[in-house]
Amino acid sequence: MSRQLNIVVGVAGGIAAYKTIQVVRELVLGGHDVHVIATDSALKFVGAPTWEALSRNPLNTSIFDDVAAVRHVSMGQEADAIVIAPATANTIAKLAAGIADDLLGTTVLASRAPLVIAPAMHTEMWSHPATVANIATLRERGVIIVGPDSGRLTGDDIGPGRMSEPDAITAAIISAATAREHAEPAARDLAGQRILITAGGTREAIDPVRYVANHSSGKQGVAIALAALRRGADVTVIAANLDPGPAADLRAAEITTVPVTSAADLAREVDRLAPDASVVVMAAAVADFTPAAPAESKIKKGDDDGLDLHLVRTRDVLADLVAHPVSGRLVVGFAAETASSRDELVELARAKLARKPADLLVANRVGSGLGFGTDDNAAVLLSSTGELVAEVSGTKRDVADAILDQLAALRHGE
Ligand code: CTP
Repeated sequence: MSRQLNIVVGVAGGIAAYKTIQVVRELVLGGHDVHVIATDSALKFVGAPTWEALSRNPLNTSIFDDVAAVRHVSMGQEADAIVIAPATANTIAKLAAGIADDLLGTTVLASRAPLVIAPAMHTEMWSHPATVANIATLRERGVIIVGPDSGRLTGDDIGPGRMSEPDAITAAIISAATAREHAEPAARDLAGQRILITAGGTREAIDPVRYVANHSSGKQGVAIALAALRRGADVTVIAANLDPGPAADLRAAEITTVPVTSAADLAREVDRLAPDASVVVMAAAVADFTPAAPAESKIKKGDDDGLDLHLVRTRDVLADLVAHPVSGRLVVGFAAETASSRDELVELARAKLARKPADLLVANRVGSGLGFGTDDNAAVLLSSTGELVAEVSGTKRDVADAILDQLAALRHGE
């Protein structure tokens, strides 16, 4: 066990609260500092003395307790991780909406620590479209969702909705809290760097209502932007149609963001902003082809039984950047490949590097659940000479830090 972690355990009103007792116990026995926040309805299931005795800290229930210490904000700020177990349908809905009408809500909003939730409810509530949408929102926001398991519920019913077992929840909390710690860079090693990052995927108009696009969510580009900011860089993002989660992350971090729609827009903004950048990271999935002549009004289907769309090549922004190198400016290219193996990926990446000799090429496999829209990624990093300099798999934040490690090394001439 490394250092003692500060863990906030939120307990919502569900019968599974009796299993959370074990989570608190395991964390305390593991040497961690545990602060329990119980909602009013949670206390109907397990009372205050149990939480206080096991956590060895006072129980927290109200925004109005210990006001002088601004507990409703400080608990969240000081936490290494927050876990909510059980997370009821109601609590999940409140989290998704950002409602802060109790101590648990204010603590979550005031915190940037990893949030782990262990849902517990009846199967019908778990599969209700409202809960499904709320869970998707939380997942999108990076919340770690443990379970629920399938099995016998409170009554005679059986199905998904049972809260996960305490050891699974405890393991998720420790890994979330320590992953964050490991990802925290030792130094602001990119201070003074002006990093321009393209993120997302372009949309090419067919007519005023339709477009050709790709599956890029923008998560990886935004993860690089956030990591670069943490490491002291001055960051600008050219954002092409980001998913709501990454877009919100950029806004929350107050990163300068230039929205674009099409490959041509993106090219224009890179032309405008790259001269001021010391690093350009081309993480966006830019369309290689665009409709030759987008219709000015909506295409009607009429009696046609088909539609031919003629596409023409777009300008390759990355190719142009590397064709006109600027002294002191580093350029990072990306390659998203449907390779069937890691070796094939490396081979395809080398071929791309030969065509577009970036200072660093990040290649990942895409297709069938890989790469696009997911929270995890696996990538190989190649130097301008095609040498495999790093191989990383983990969260998109891990991949972002691996890319920035290489950039920092190039910058500092290591
Ligand atoms: N890119 C770009 N401008 C384009 C297309 C792509 O700047 N019009 C950049 C992307 O941002 C990414 C890299 O080029 O950094 C990805 O190239 P990609 O389109 O995957 O590969 P290509 O070199 O076009 O090769 P292929 O289509 O054969 O995979």
